Amino acid sequence: MSSIQATLQTLKLVSPEASCNTDLTKGPWLFDTGEADYGPGSSQDDVAPADTPRQGEIPAEYREASDAELTARILAAKETLGDSLVVLGHHYQRDEVVAFADFVGDSFQLANAALTREQARYIVFCGVHFMAETADILSTQEQAVILPNLAAGCSMADMADESSVEECWEQLMDLYAHEDSSDGLAAVIPVTYMNSSAALKAFVGKHGGIVCTSSNAATVLEWAFERGRRVLFFPDQHLGRNTAKAMGIPLERMPMWNPRKPLGGSDEATLHDAKVILWHGFCSVHKRFTVAQIERARVEHPGVQILAHPECPMPVVDAADAAGSTDYIQKAVAAAPAGSVFGIATEINMVNRLAAEHPEHTVFCLDPVICPCSTMYRIHPGYLAWVLESLVDGVVLNRIEVPAEVAADAKVALERMLAARP
Ligand code: 13P
Ligand code: SF4
Repeated sequence: MSSIQATLQTLKLVSPEASCNTDLTKGPWLFDTGEADYGPGSSQDDVAPADTPRQGEIPAEYREASDAELTARILAAKETLGDSLVVLGHHYQRDEVVAFADFVGDSFQLANAALTREQARYIVFCGVHFMAETADILSTQEQAVILPNLAAGCSMADMADESSVEECWEQLMDLYAHEDSSDGLAAVIPVTYMNSSAALKAFVGKHGGIVCTSSNAATVLEWAFERGRRVLFFPDQHLGRNTAKAMGIPLERMPMWNPRKPLGGSDEATLHDAKVILWHGFCSVHKRFTVAQIERARVEHPGVQILAHPECPMPVVDAADAAGSTDYIQKAVAAAPAGSVFGIATEINMVNRLAAEHPEHTVFCLDPVICPCSTMYRIHPGYLAWVLESLVDGVVLNRIEVPAEVAADAKVALERMLAARP
């Protein structure tokens, strides 16, 4: 039984008000029945687009294998594939998957890992769809990027679709058409968070924009302000707001763009005066964290340090002691003197692993109900064994291939990000 399953079963007993869906204690293939949804977990109530990738059932031998059998089969397949394979894992993957990763990191580091592992013919990406797309864009044409479960998407990434962003862009271009441009700056620079489709990365590439991750958002915004009077930031309003606020941009100059409303629900004067226009997107994992949780942690654990991922709402980041990417959080815990106490506002798989890796500290998740990222959770060793054993047989399953014309523009935006690194 995984640590999440154990936690959920305990919660079922002790927490009657728990809102976590205890279906998570079942194997993920039970949810891969072809429905277009995110499955149980933090994003279970988010609306999945109709064309969201579906996985379909994998052979019974993988669904029914014991943990020990899957471990043996994965290790044997990895051994056979040798250097032709690299397995990449995001920090939010479950322990049973991280155990087989050759490299574990945040989304920026994983993009770099895909760029620099040229010897590997196969990149098996244990993360979510947009990360695998990025790996495909940055790797060579000869390399195949494989996502073990196609249903491992990201509800936040799906909150900004290409046509809504195009529509927003047209409205903004109309609005700013007669603006004085003698300063040589563009009216708007589009900035997309890594957590977005390849199509949106291509959109920003085409329109003079750039990609950012949670580890370089401030550097990227500086890059954008050197080139434009405003930024259109999508899909995560919280990362955009937290980063811009830390750079001294007042909140009234950060209007929200709601794609379902004319002018995004804003007005012309506000949009003219805007510095950062924030898309109405969010992460359902990080939305769960609250200031009340931080206040409780400070009462119950005097001296606790609160670390928050910048996808958390602004009041949470403001009340935390520090905020940063998953890599930042991991390094902050590793560097602390023994006996430190950390309350962490990010995904539970990573927090549980940090707690296990650092018995010299007290590390706990601020969310008492504990709901993992529904889609990261979709990658299970059964899927890993399935794609790896198929590779041994010469069959490439679940390959993520970004069409060449999309990849070319998206690569421009990604390369701008890689070059903007401080
Ligand atoms: P990182 O860039 O910090 O790895 O975050 C990725 C992500 O999806 C967080 O929800
Ligand atoms: Fe997407 Fe949030 Fe999951 Fe990250 S944690 S992959 S942003 S849903």
